[in-house]
Amino acid sequence: MSQANQHDSIRPIQWVDDQLLLLDQRELPGKETYLVIQDVDGVYNAIHSMVVRGAPAIGITAAYGVVFSARAHFARQPATWLKNVEHDVQRLRGARPTAVNLDWALNKMLSLARKLNSNPVVELLARAHNIRNEDIQNNKRMGDIGAEFILPSSLVLTHCNAGALATGGYGTALGVIRSAFTKGRVKNVFACETRPWLQGARLTAWELAKEKIRVTLLADGAASHLLKTVEISWVIVGADRVAANGDVANKIGTYGLAVLAKYHNVKVMVVAPTSTIDICSSNGGEISLESRGPEELFTIDGRRVAATGARAWNPIFDITPAALVDVLVTEKGAIYKPTIDSIAELVNEALLS
Ligand code: MRU
Repeated sequence: MSQANQHDSIRPIQWVDDQLLLLDQRELPGKETYLVIQDVDGVYNAIHSMVVRGAPAIGITAAYGVVFSARAHFARQPATWLKNVEHDVQRLRGARPTAVNLDWALNKMLSLARKLNSNPVVELLARAHNIRNEDIQNNKRMGDIGAEFILPSSLVLTHCNAGALATGGYGTALGVIRSAFTKGRVKNVFACETRPWLQGARLTAWELAKEKIRVTLLADGAASHLLKTVEISWVIVGADRVAANGDVANKIGTYGLAVLAKYHNVKVMVVAPTSTIDICSSNGGEISLESRGPEELFTIDGRRVAATGARAWNPIFDITPAALVDVLVTEKGAIYKPTIDSIAELVNEALLS
């Protein structure tokens, strides 16, 4: 195995025999099973129920949803397929509202669909493959860009899962960690367990251990003590949406980590493709943040752990102000201390390329 693919074996979204195969993340790390999806309802349910999660992975999966939608509607009513596809797209937009890659991918699919007159399936499928493949390429590019900021043998802290599982492959935050580990720049990764869904304990720990990257798990509440007592060089996270001014929506707890990092003089790196930047949200206050049901807090692995009678508050994303972000890494380059102008410049470059 070459050095480049040594730590890169996971592909959670695959298209095989005209069906979509999704690595079922609800079952990890216990079971490694692929769910077979054959229609747009299956795609909606897979995104909504978190079979697939992570902003770029949600976008890619939704793109294949548009292929299913077009395939079904064109076969049934060739004269009105586009109207029905537009209706399905509208529904898909609501499957997970915070991850802007969902809208981004759906807009890309819809703009192509509107240009097609004859059977649209072949071209839409090619575009969905392209969205997936470009995502993987961009992640590798971001991996190389981000790794340059990390000194040899560093210790880093990450949160949630912004890895291969959250993307087409390789990952955003974990892409930087993969590249840096391969170059000897990361000695050990600390991963917050990420209650309530445990993306860190179940997914990041699984992904890194599988790729033979040293990972140490910690309870979310232990992060402050870690930053105080262990020399951590970087907090490295992904994003569900980056506002025009650089505010970052990401997994609940990211904001807390960024505040802690500031206090302890540890730098914060946000790794996100330009498809995660939403210039229509001028700041984080305009981003709609998803909440989920209380059962995620009441139970662990289906077993009730919370006292009966308690209520629960379960916001699953928070906003980290741009002022707490040291570096934003995108496939178009890195911005040190992102501002509204530097972000606009980057987005323009992405639009022109
Ligand atoms: O609720 P999730 O698991 O979809 O949340 C995922 C995150 O918050 C990730 O950090 C973000 O989507 C970036 S993934 C490359």
